[in-house]
Amino acid sequence: MPEQSEDWRNLNRLNWDERVAIHLDADIYDLTPLREGRGRLNPIEEAELGPVSSKRILHLQCHFGRDSLILAQQGAEVVGLDFSERAIDAARKIAAEIGLSSQARFVLSDVYDAPIAIEEPGAFDIVFVTWGALCWLPDIRRWAEIVAHFLKEGGFLYLAEGHPTALVFDDAAAGPDGKPGRFAPYFHREPLRMNDPRDYADPAVHLKNSRTVEWIHPLGEVVTAMLDAGLRLRWLHEHDRVPWRMFAELEDSDGGLYRWPAEPWLPLAYSLRAEKPSSDLVRHHQVVGRDPRVGRACR
Ligand SMILES: C[S@@+](CC[C@H](N)C(=O)[O-])C[C@H]1O[C@@H](n2cnc3c(N)ncnc32)[C@H](O)[C@@H]1O
Repeated sequence: MPEQSEDWRNLNRLNWDERVAIHLDADIYDLTPLREGRGRLNPIEEAELGPVSSKRILHLQCHFGRDSLILAQQGAEVVGLDFSERAIDAARKIAAEIGLSSQARFVLSDVYDAPIAIEEPGAFDIVFVTWGALCWLPDIRRWAEIVAHFLKEGGFLYLAEGHPTALVFDDAAAGPDGKPGRFAPYFHREPLRMNDPRDYADPAVHLKNSRTVEWIHPLGEVVTAMLDAGLRLRWLHEHDRVPWRMFAELEDSDGGLYRWPAEPWLPLAYSLRAEKPSSDLVRHHQVVGRDPRVGRACR
């Protein structure tokens, strides 16, 4: 794995540990609806994910479990995983407080150690990964293999992320017009070693643990990694809104989303559904693809 011998994991974990207390108080992570039994995901996810009742869901990089618990409240059985001890402690406490501990279990682990931490290969209907997860991971191909490892046949990955095209820009590099400026090239292969005290949930915050190591993963690489891991892409959507204020100039939109003030000149987010085919279907395609009598290779 790239960067394995380096400090990325420790730096990133310290940064995320510090953010937990901040986010527990932040408006964008408001827990009131969840506590009142009416938790909802954001409008993009609510429109795309489909019914979750009685589904087994693995929520990778679950932070302090707000979305995991919303899914549990909607009838799913959820396992949330995160490498921040403070996040997992908070998730367990909130689950107990609102009476969802039996539907939502929280596991402390790095994503790359998930197959050891959760010994349930092929056990999940949905792997759920959203918003600001992939940029913390050095090896997207290994990540895709781990997702495929956990899915049942017929199960699917739901991924919703900041669009890498937008992540090329940042307010910290703003020009005289105040527009977000060029921050990192789209095809930058090296880790981005940052020293950024800002937090997206609270502009007043100045993080002490401000050093992080992050990666830009081009859309084509993410999709290809999933296909190579054996998943089938069902759809891929690009969005002109995103559930955090990615740039200062974005305006509040519907249900906690932020959008461009005028023309949506760049996508801000993407989401996709990628399914793990059943082995019967794979065998059928292999046979059809190899059999010269059929006369046409499978697509
Ligand atoms: C922006 S948050 C994701 C928010 C999430 N969508 C949610 O439900 O609130 C990123 C999360 O990734 C976690 N994380 C970062 N790198 C990780 C890693 N290598 N393994 C496990 N968790 C990681 C952080 O602790 C943090 O909780």
